[in-house]
Amino acid sequence: MNLVEERTKRTQWFLKDRFGMFIHWGLYSIPARGEWIRSNEKISKEDYRVYFDEFNPINYDPKSWARAAKDAGMKYVVMTAKHHDGFCLFDSKLTDYKATNTKAGRDLIKEYVDAFREEGLKIGLYYSTIDWYHDDFPHYGDRHHPMRENIAYKDFEHDFENYLEYMHGQVRELCTNYGKIDILWFDFSYDDMCGEKWKATELINMVRSLQPDVIIDNRLEASGENAGSIRTKNPSFFAGDFASPEQIIPPEGLVDEDGHSIPWEACITMNNHWGYCSNDKNFKSSKMIIRKLVECVSKNGNLLLNVGPNAKGEIPIESLNILKEIGKWIKDNGNSIYNCGKSSLPKPEWGYYTQNGNKLYAHIFEPSIGPLGLSGLTNRVKKVRLLSDGSEIKIINPWNTFDFEDHMFINFGSPGQLTYPLPNNIDTVVELELLE
Ligand code: GLC
Repeated sequence: MNLVEERTKRTQWFLKDRFGMFIHWGLYSIPARGEWIRSNEKISKEDYRVYFDEFNPINYDPKSWARAAKDAGMKYVVMTAKHHDGFCLFDSKLTDYKATNTKAGRDLIKEYVDAFREEGLKIGLYYSTIDWYHDDFPHYGDRHHPMRENIAYKDFEHDFENYLEYMHGQVRELCTNYGKIDILWFDFSYDDMCGEKWKATELINMVRSLQPDVIIDNRLEASGENAGSIRTKNPSFFAGDFASPEQIIPPEGLVDEDGHSIPWEACITMNNHWGYCSNDKNFKSSKMIIRKLVECVSKNGNLLLNVGPNAKGEIPIESLNILKEIGKWIKDNGNSIYNCGKSSLPKPEWGYYTQNGNKLYAHIFEPSIGPLGLSGLTNRVKKVRLLSDGSEIKIINPWNTFDFEDHMFINFGSPGQLTYPLPNNIDTVVELELLE
């Protein structure tokens, strides 16, 4: 098999599961101004140490996190094992800068893996190739390092080979000590810090020797700004198994040069921060997130929805409430998300289509005046049901539809009642069983 064929085989489960939880958590949850605070505020390692000395998430309960994710209909999860600040949430033998050396005194990743695996979710680990703590990661003149403008580091001799040995060693630990890992989510490449600069081929060969079925994102070569060679006919060895558009849903989905759909996952925050940000109360509504999940699936994509737990180890109540609302909708309508993808029909004006074989799902966001018209389906439909309760939806052709023969018309009200509220004002899903 070639790289694309291998990628297609590995990502089959991923493209069926469609919906995952992203978790950004670490020392930055204490200052609570997002996970880039060291870089944004140019905080020295010494000044950032206060958070290491304080970190003690007394309410960390990954089992409750796992239940919240499962109840929201999420099928997989990705949590930060190490973010750009270099702090390790796992008990790495290669550093002292880790959760087991804080007041937490626990391997937070071990507890996370066990809890989410127990709830049946597939396990992902986010690992930052960037490391602002390690002495041998470039400082002065780097695009992002907190000390990028600190002249004291101008002539510092970094042994980048030593950093790579450390980085590869930690990835080996994560692929060895925590059971089956389903997703490795590297983050991120920039300027010349990409591809073989990370010794990506060697890294991936090591990963695959330990976790042969794991899927890997595209950020050993790319970032949220560009998808890298995964969109070409000849992806590089480290192009990854899926693209990771960030804080955006690709307008047309993502295809390669030949127009073939490639696996992709939009990663989205609930407010505007990945890491906990106490004053960011700009949370998206559950209605918006449900509709964006539908949009992703209608374009053959996945949605990775982020939560940023606080310093005490609690997922913010706003996020929990949103997850609960999503769970209510997906409980009744999950068949229109899982195992589904893009339909051959063009996008309708009133919402989206998703499809799974001969089951076509009409996601109706907007009510219509009179019966709802579905283009291109005349004489192609065996039966129509409201997905949430299995009730029959009538195909009708009343007097005011005679002019529109290429449309099939349905309505939710009684036959004589032609204008009516939709059963679900977030997304009313109608299942159409197609004849062929
Ligand atoms: C960007 C940010 C990083 C975040 C990631 C999530 O790469 O730098 O903080 O973890 O997006 O996609």
